[in-house]
Amino acid sequence: MREDIKEVLLDEEKINEKVKELGKKISEDYKGKDLILIGILKGSVVFMGNLVKYIDIPCAIDFMSVSSYGNGTSTSGIVKVLKDLDSDVEGKDILIVEDIIDSGVTLKYLMGHISGKKPNSIEIITLLNKPERRRVEINVKYTGFIVPDYFLVGYGLDYAEKYRNLPYIGILKDEIYE
Ligand code: IMP
Ligand code: MG
Repeated sequence: MREDIKEVLLDEEKINEKVKELGKKISEDYKGKDLILIGILKGSVVFMGNLVKYIDIPCAIDFMSVSSYGNGTSTSGIVKVLKDLDSDVEGKDILIVEDIIDSGVTLKYLMGHISGKKPNSIEIITLLNKPERRRVEINVKYTGFIVPDYFLVGYGLDYAEKYRNLPYIGILKDEIYE
């Protein structure tokens, strides 16, 4: 797999330091609140799994699955819910956990969908943020890293379902997807 990667953008140690810092911030900001982390499948699972280890206040987790991409590398603009929340989130403090925000279309849709379930608050944490690519405005409470406009894989991020298991975030070689 390593031979498909042009460059390692963020290594495991650097990501881990950042995740620890984010976990600490969340623990301070959400003290006394009724926190539920909602991971967006499947890209957020590695980030989510590591993040919760550094949150030292009570919290619940849940997952949603949406599709917008197919196997391509840019958004289709159409979002479909494949798996909805299991828990009742009315009155809860929600933090949506994303791997990366690109166009923002997925999150815009999710914010609307989850707001309809009457939570007390709803915010977003993303490990990676590609602001250059934004098509709709999104308010992000916590960002791990601002990244350049390359197609990235690893640490949960995939290309055609591969590379999610890489422990670092790398730039995929152009010839793999062109
Ligand atoms: P958006 O709706 O365009 O913001 O797309 C967000 C979703 O697209 C993310 O949750 C990822 O699953 C996927 N995505 C966007 N950019 C990348 C990338 O560089 N590598 C892998 N997946 C990506
Ligand atoms: Mg995703």
